[in-house]
Order: sequence, then structure tokens, then C-alpha cells
Amino acid sequence: MSAGEARRVIVASTNHGKLAEIRSALDLDGWEFVTATDLGRETLDVEETGATFAENALLKARAYAEAFGLAALADDSGLEVDALAGAPGVRSARYSGEGATDARNNKKLLDALTGLPEAARSARFRSAVALVEPDGAVTAAEGTCEGRIGLRPAGTGGFGYDPLFLPAAAPGRTMAELSLAEKNAISHRGEALRALRQALTAAGRG
Ligand code: IMP
Repeated sequence: MSAGEARRVIVASTNHGKLAEIRSALDLDGWEFVTATDLGRETLDVEETGATFAENALLKARAYAEAFGLAALADDSGLEVDALAGAPGVRSARYSGEGATDARNNKKLLDALTGLPEAARSARFRSAVALVEPDGAVTAAEGTCEGRIGLRPAGTGGFGYDPLFLPAAAPGRTMAELSLAEKNAISHRGEALRALRQALTAAGRG
């Protein structure tokens, strides 16, 4: 890459929170992260048919790289609850079925764990990220955030299952009660993006 030339990466998401996290974690010299909307294009509707977060992240990144002819970055994430054999897992966004919302997903999760004591409510957020470059090279990484599912929701920050998730790294508070900076420092996505940055730098692609 010659001096002054930006390396443009299309991000396979329209979630502004995620985009801010990506820009802050992957502060690589000369890299520029854009969305389909930034380029005046439609977002792609990529079916998440993978059995794992890593497969889905790669599916999305490959589809975006091919459609846009640019390096593409995708993330796939969700919640794994041990008492539910890892559910909702890759189905986290659609856990409560057709027309799922965060509120309905959270209610279904609380109902599924009714009567279970705190010690039996262990869970983790997991995030997989994948970067596919125009030459087909793939760099991938994962991150997790361990914790428990609370007995009731608390806090208004974040999104998804944050009001129910008590991270082990922030005793006594849910993820929704942390500032964005506190969440980024301990979150699954923050960890995955930092690992991706390291892998890119180690491979001389950063
Ligand atoms: P996706 O990776 O955007 O498909 O997200 C999958 C789903 O996992 C989201 O809709 C949320 O329900 C859940 N999820 C992923 N990351 C987080 C998080 O940081 N906090 C809360 N919920 C999350």
C-alpha cells in the first residue's frame, strides 16, 4: 500500500455500536471501515446457515468481499447458556421466534431458567470475527465473555441480552449497567477484535 492510500474495508453490519467498536479496536494505520450505506449501496441479506459463529462470520465476510470487491469484515455473536445446553447460541437474535425482539428474547430466557439458583445460571457471550481480503486470504478470531444470567433485568445500556448478563469481570453489575468503554474492555467482541488485530499484524497484513 503506498503512502496516503487508504485500505478500505466493508463492514458486514449496519449496527452503529458494532462499527464504533470495530473502528476503535482495529485502529490500524491507513485502514478505513465503511458500510454499504456509506457507499450508497444496499446491505446484503446473507442467510446465516452456519452451525457455529465462526462459520456464519465467514459466510457474511465472503459474501460482502465478493459483492463489493473490497476486503470485508464480519462478526457473528450470541449467548450460550450452560443449563440450556448452549442455547440460544447461533439462534440468539431469533430465540423467541418470528418477529423476535430483545424484550421477548429476554423474557423467554428468564422463563426457561425459572427456579434455577444463581450458581446454575452460568453463561457466556461468544463473538467470531472474520476478515476476507480481495485475494481470498482469511484472518479469523474469537472472543468470549464469561458470566451468569441474573434473576431479573437491570440497566439500560447496551443491547440484546445485556440487561440479564452479569459478567464475571464486573461483579454485581449487568452488562447493561456498564459504560461503553467498560463493556468494550471485557466484552467478547472487544476480545475477538483485539485478537484479529494481533493476527493481522503478525501476518504482516496490518
Ligand atoms: P449478531 O451477531 O448481530 O447476529 O447478534 C446476535 C444476537 O446475539 C444479538 O441479537 C443479541 O441478542 C446477542 N448478542 C450478541 N452480542 C451481544 C452483546 O454484546 N450484548 C447482548 N446481546 C448480544
